[in-house]
Amino acid sequence: MKSAGRVYLVDDDELILAMLSRTLEREGYEIRTETGETEFIDKIASWHPEVVLLDINLPGQNGMDTLKTLKNDAPDIEVIMLTADDTAETAVKAMKIGAWDYLTKPFNMDEVKIVIGNAIENIKLKKELEYLRKISSSFFDNDFLGVSKAKRELKEKVERIAEARISSILITGESGVGKDVIARNIHRMIHGTAVSSSIPFIAVNCSALPDTLLESELFGYEKGAFTDARKSKKGLFEVAVGGTLLLDELGEMKLSLQSKLLRVLEERVVRRIGGQEEIPVDVTVIATTNRNLPAAVERGEFRMDLYYRLNAFSLNVPPLRERKEDIPVLAGHFLAAFAKEYNKKIEGFSTEAENMLLAYPWPGNVRELKNVIQGMVVLQNTKVIMPEHLPLELRGSAMPEEQRRDERFILPTAGISLDAFEKDMIVQALERADHNKTQAAKLLGVSYDSFRYQLKKFGLE
Ligand SMILES: Nc1ncnc2c1ncn2[C@@H]1O[C@H](COP(=O)(O)OP(=O)(O)OP(=O)(O)O)[C@@H](O)[C@H]1O
Ligand SMILES: [Mg+2]
Repeated sequence: MKSAGRVYLVDDDELILAMLSRTLEREGYEIRTETGETEFIDKIASWHPEVVLLDINLPGQNGMDTLKTLKNDAPDIEVIMLTADDTAETAVKAMKIGAWDYLTKPFNMDEVKIVIGNAIENIKLKKELEYLRKISSSFFDNDFLGVSKAKRELKEKVERIAEARISSILITGESGVGKDVIARNIHRMIHGTAVSSSIPFIAVNCSALPDTLLESELFGYEKGAFTDARKSKKGLFEVAVGGTLLLDELGEMKLSLQSKLLRVLEERVVRRIGGQEEIPVDVTVIATTNRNLPAAVERGEFRMDLYYRLNAFSLNVPPLRERKEDIPVLAGHFLAAFAKEYNKKIEGFSTEAENMLLAYPWPGNVRELKNVIQGMVVLQNTKVIMPEHLPLELRGSAMPEEQRRDERFILPTAGISLDAFEKDMIVQALERADHNKTQAAKLLGVSYDSFRYQLKKFGLE
């Protein structure tokens, strides 16, 4: 029969040891016993039981000290204290030190079985969680990879911010630089590497929802607050309590909502729409944006006070072209990961191919690099990636300067409509950038804001 678990019994009363052993063995547990006259902590630790039943009144020992040593040497073992008196005080003290539970003499055997059963169940759950965490972290490449100075500085800053438990953080940077990755890293660091799935990490894209919907999503509402509010609903701030709320693309949030957000950040309470109660929200708020916020403040599109509040702890993630050392590392990582996923035997890049990766400006940053490599792995069946395997736009950037100038657009003799040409280029840029405006703007060498202006002008929004 498979063992139900290992239980180590420590009591100076041999009669108690015998009685407990008999009962527990019948339940399928493996048992070892100990009267506690000689040193036993090492013996316990080397046998790896799941549970230790420890008498609090061993002769010549302070039960609490023994408990402390045991929890210190073998923290994974659950300890259940055996006490002669039923004073809650001793029990509370023992639990504070780390005991799982306690049992009072004389024992009720059913209770003994239940308490031990619970402890073992708990250990099983912990192990399962740990396993799930391990596999899930290998599925989502959560690590912010890179070797550049910029990446090292970012990592240090992330560590300091996480250690200080800063509760409002701003992450800025172009689209695809890894702002989400960093936000998740901060969350992991604050809550320890072993993030339990019970700690919420909630991400909201502020540009994806219309204003009123975003407001009710974030703050929740009471029944009857508006026509459709048939039941009251928690907002995401409340849902994220104890964890992290990621406000993606905060730069797109409307002014009226910005002031409500500021109030939450300052007072750490939310009031549901139509509600009176102030609900405390202990949440790490991480905002990300690829907009130039100071410029938006200047134009009156972003609240200055909110900007200052968030900017106190801000991380700027530089574009990939400004930290080229990271390109080979990331490219190698993605190549290996996708090769494994698609079962391809691709070993690496030729020097020329790598030089092209380095020369290309990567307007879509790491996301673009990742997509390009995924595309190559899917399409190619080569061992080594050569220049001809790379997409055209990458080969262009490594082209000698004169050759590129040859490719300049020649005005047709009949002339063109500059407006129509411009519009066409904008549409093409949008298509190439997968409708990512920041990236499309980059392709045309204009700022995000002037690109948006152009979109409006041509009615392309
Ligand atoms: N340093 C990195 N190491 C590994 N993967 C990365 C890194 N940076 C970015 N990535 C990957 O690149 C992709 C884009 O990253 P992410 O979503 O974090 O960008 P972002 O800055 O949030 O972009 P956006 O502004 O468009 O939301 C993701 O698939 C992410 O896993
Ligand atoms: Mg993002």
